[in-house]
Amino acid sequence: MPHHVPLSTDVFDVMHTMRAMRRLKPDPVPDELVFKILAAGQAAASGGNTQRWRFLVLKDAVAKKKAVQAYYKRLYDEVLGPRYATSAPPPGSNPAAYARQHDAVKYLTDHYHEAPVWIVACLEGDNPNYTAGSSIYPAVQNMLLAARALGLGSTLTTRHTGYGKECDEAMGIPAGYKSYAILPIGWPMGNFGPLGRGSLSDVVYLDDWGKPYPGI
Ligand SMILES: Cc1cc2nc3c(=O)[nH]c(=O)nc-3n(C[C@H](O)[C@H](O)[C@H](O)COP(=O)(O)O)c2cc1C
Repeated sequence: MPHHVPLSTDVFDVMHTMRAMRRLKPDPVPDELVFKILAAGQAAASGGNTQRWRFLVLKDAVAKKKAVQAYYKRLYDEVLGPRYATSAPPPGSNPAAYARQHDAVKYLTDHYHEAPVWIVACLEGDNPNYTAGSSIYPAVQNMLLAARALGLGSTLTTRHTGYGKECDEAMGIPAGYKSYAILPIGWPMGNFGPLGRGSLSDVVYLDDWGKPYPGI
């Protein structure tokens, strides 16, 4: 493992520095680290402990990654690019930071397939709904946290679901399963660091909707 990567096992430090890392080196990632990330995913909760997840890891399946990247890029051109170009910066951001985010989103769009490891988080069932989503995204978040703790960069991506059927077919995901997220994983080019978020008091209420929580 490269020594310049700041490792952390403090869960609060990990959460508060886990930026979307969209610029990744193509260098290989040792399998032992991928296994740790996958085990963290499997440790997550699922409704009724049903564990209907499957984690498809794409390493050398370059043609599959490339096929999905083509749809991912198409969705950028059709939806994401225009949206970024016309929408206002989100809470805790500003025009310059938002422009940097847009650049990084564009970069990942062009280099998606070059990430050395993809973890495709899949769930059994044909009915994506609240329960389904909440039985797979905790595993996804656990894997992102584990990657960050190991010094590996990633981003939660779901854009491919805009062409979900086509992408699942391209990845060889059988009928009866759906992909819910793709985590492109690799050694980051940039640094982990503080996140752009709005102020906590804007989104938390105490006892009555809209009532501030004093002291927050
Ligand atoms: C449901 C969901 C879907 C996302 N899909 C994508 C995606 O397809 N591509 C991408 O680059 N980022 C995607 N993101 C990452 C968000 O854009 C990112 O979390 C947000 O910009 C905050 O970034 P930060 O944590 O670095 O501040 C997604 C995040 C979530 C929660």
